Amino acid sequence: MAFAKITSTLLVGLWWAILVACEDQNVTEVNSGSQQHKEPDFPTPEYILPCSRNDPKIEACFFNTLAHIQPYLVKGIPELDVPPIEPLVIPELKMENGQGPVRVRAIFTNITTIGPGNYSISKVRVNISSYRFDLHLSLPKIEIHGSYDINGNVLLFPIQSQGDFWALFGDVKAIARMQGVEEVKDGVRYMKISRLLIDFSLGRARFRINDHLNGNNVIGQAMNQFLNQNIKEIIEEMRPAASASIAKYFKDFLNGVFTQLPLKVWMHDA
Ligand SMILES: *[C@@H]1O[C@H](CO)[C@@H](O)[C@H](O)[C@H]1NC(C)=O
Ligand SMILES: *[C@@H]1O[C@H](CO)[C@@H](O)[C@H](O)[C@H]1NC(C)=O
Ligand SMILES: *[C@@H]1O[C@H](CO)[C@@H](O)[C@H](O)[C@H]1NC(C)=O
Ligand SMILES: *[C@@H]1O[C@H](CO)[C@@H](O)[C@H](O)[C@H]1NC(C)=O
Repeated sequence: MAFAKITSTLLVGLWWAILVACEDQNVTEVNSGSQQHKEPDFPTPEYILPCSRNDPKIEACFFNTLAHIQPYLVKGIPELDVPPIEPLVIPELKMENGQGPVRVRAIFTNITTIGPGNYSISKVRVNISSYRFDLHLSLPKIEIHGSYDINGNVLLFPIQSQGDFWALFGDVKAIARMQGVEEVKDGVRYMKISRLLIDFSLGRARFRINDHLNGNNVIGQAMNQFLNQNIKEIIEEMRPAASASIAKYFKDFLNGVFTQLPLKVWMHDA
C-alpha cells in the first residue's frame, strides 16, 4: 500500500519534472491542443499570491493565498467588482423546506452580516488536476440582521410572518467543497466553479425576530412568541436549505471573481 503510494507519488513527480523540463526548453508546438502558451502574460495584482500546479506543497501555498487576500476581501476589490465582506451585505436569500416538522418558505432580504472578514482557514485540500478544493473555515463570531418573510407550517401550526430578524452565532465552522472546471474565453483559460457545497455547524446561537405583519394584536404577539421560542429548531430544520442557499450565493460570488481572473494569474504554470 505505502509502497504503491510512494511509487505513484514519484511517478507523478517525474511526470511533472519532464513537463517542466519541456517547458523550459520552450517547445510551444509540442504541447498542441493546449492554448496555454498563446495566452498573454498577465500582471499579478497585489492581492493575489499565485501558486504553482507543480508545487509539492500546493495546499500550503493556497492556504497562504487565502490569508493574503483576506484584508483585500474585507475592504472589497473594486476592479473585480467584489464588495467588502466586512460587513457582508447579501440582498436576498431564499430557502424552502418542504418536509418534516418545519415546512416553510422563507425569504431574507437586505441581510447585513458582521464578522465574516474574521474568517480563518484551518485546512485546505486541493486536487489541482481535477480542480477540487476543500476549505475548512472557522468564524469566531457572526452577527446578522435584516428582514424576513416566512410562511408555511411549523409543527402543524400555520405561520405567516414578516419583520426584522437578528441573530448571533459563535464558533461557526464551515466546510466548503468546490468543484472547478476550466473554461476558455477569447483564448484565455479561467476556472469556473461548477459545484459548491457548504456545510456548517454553529457553536452558540441566539436569535430574535420582530414580527411586523401581525401587528401588536394578540395573534401577532402569539406568533412572535411562538417563532422566537422555536427559532432554534426552525433554523436546525432549515439547515440543509440554508446551506444550499448560502452555497448558491457564494458560488455566484466566486464565479464573479474567477471569470475576471485568468487561471494563469493565480496559477503561474497553469
Ligand atoms: C519561446 O519561444 C517563443 C516563440 O518562439 C519566443 O518568443 C520566446 O521568447 C521563447 N521564450 C523563451 C523563454 O525562450
Ligand atoms: C438595509 O439595511 C440597512 C442597514 O441595516 C438600512 O440602512 C437600509 O435602509 C436597508 N435597505 C432596505 C432596502 O431595506
Ligand atoms: C475581528 O477580530 C478582531 C480581533 O479578535 C476583533 O477585534 C474584531 O472586533 C472582530 N471583528 C468582527 C466584525 O467581529
Ligand atoms: C486527483 O483527481 C484525479 C482526477 O479525478 C484523480 O485521478 C487523482 O487520483 C486525484 N489525486 C488525488 C491525490 O486524490
